[in-house]
Amino acid sequence: MTTPLKIGIAGLGTVGAGTVDVLNTHGTQLIHRAGRPLEITAVSARDKSKDRGVDLSGVTWHDDPIALASDPNVDLVAELIGGSDGIAKDLCEAALAAGKHVVTANKALIAHHGTVLAETAETNSACLAYEAAVAGGIPIIKALREGLAANRIDSLYGILNGTCNYILTNMAESGREFEDVLDEAQQLGYAEADPSFDIDGVDAAHKLAILASLAFGTAVDFGGVHVEGIRHVSPIDIEFAAELGYGIKLLGVARRTDAGIEQRVHPCMVPVDAPINHVRGVFNAVEVVGDFVDRTIYQGRGAGAGPTASAVVADIIDIARGGRVPAFGVPTAALKPAATVAMESHQGPYYVRLMVVDEPGVFAGIAASLSDHSVSMESVLQRGRAPGEPVPVVMTVHDTKEADMVKTLDDIAGLSAVVETPRMIRIEMV
Ligand code: HSE
Repeated sequence: MTTPLKIGIAGLGTVGAGTVDVLNTHGTQLIHRAGRPLEITAVSARDKSKDRGVDLSGVTWHDDPIALASDPNVDLVAELIGGSDGIAKDLCEAALAAGKHVVTANKALIAHHGTVLAETAETNSACLAYEAAVAGGIPIIKALREGLAANRIDSLYGILNGTCNYILTNMAESGREFEDVLDEAQQLGYAEADPSFDIDGVDAAHKLAILASLAFGTAVDFGGVHVEGIRHVSPIDIEFAAELGYGIKLLGVARRTDAGIEQRVHPCMVPVDAPINHVRGVFNAVEVVGDFVDRTIYQGRGAGAGPTASAVVADIIDIARGGRVPAFGVPTAALKPAATVAMESHQGPYYVRLMVVDEPGVFAGIAASLSDHSVSMESVLQRGRAPGEPVPVVMTVHDTKEADMVKTLDDIAGLSAVVETPRMIRIEMV
């Protein structure tokens, strides 16, 4: 019998317990895939007495997760605690410094400290693997790092947060308000412990920063991601979008441009028949375009015990077999600075909704603001007739520079007939 790979698991929450379950359930078959037995030798979690529904008999318990880094009976630490700093980071640093491999599902940690951790891994001839950090069960990290390694990647985009996709799908299908559907998502356990990470786009931005690094060979640059969430998406915008032939999705978009790397997370209007518009509920999807392979699309469950543990165990198997791929596909010394392009330089079509008093002459003021900033209108729509009352006016505009759009909307917001902050959603012709 070949030497087993000895695994220490830190964190026995949904993902940790899921990982134990996969290893216990498929242990025998996995020996062939891994080339040797995968043995859980140690664990660490907050409450030893809690019943997690998994068999941990014969496994060493450490109250302090950092002890896994120095346990001679551990070759690989699976960090399933979470959080960008604190104990998760301390554990990964200590484990890598001790030459132990690290597998993590921690997107915040990799988005903030991935490049430095990868350097520590290299220095100590250890592996840092994080398939589970992005899009749960979808093997998108392996696809970018290995499957598409022959290509120059120029763009990728995706639905990277299941909670937001669940909320937007439900709002579209039921006409309900955002807050109402968020409550439901929390009750179903989809949202992060701090749901603002989901709905304000932070979780998707963590994932996008990681994907952009792999795609473009640049150091992870979370600070360079423009982030907006879905709090301001309202049923009326979803309705108008449908009327105009679009759906609304929270997308992460990363693009290589002449000026540098564009990284942004925000609600997008996408053509109703685009494949990504058909990704419903908690599912995630990523489209990657490579110069030789052309378009590739990956879709699956982005969260939950089973899908995330599936990704954790896939990393463990790669490491057990002796796979030694650099964490970001190239040695860290070869990663270029990200040179992120500011959002003001973004150029694209926009949807705008105004609430204006229904009276003669209002449109002349709006048209003047558009003209002052050379913004070219594509279509306009006013629904209803309510003299003297606010009514929605919806416009789409042709390709416009973001900086000009912002100035135009500032001017429009100052018109006396405009009674609410104008709402703007970028149109993405995916
Ligand atoms: N809260 C995340 C989501 C799950 O809703 O997609 C894991 O990243």
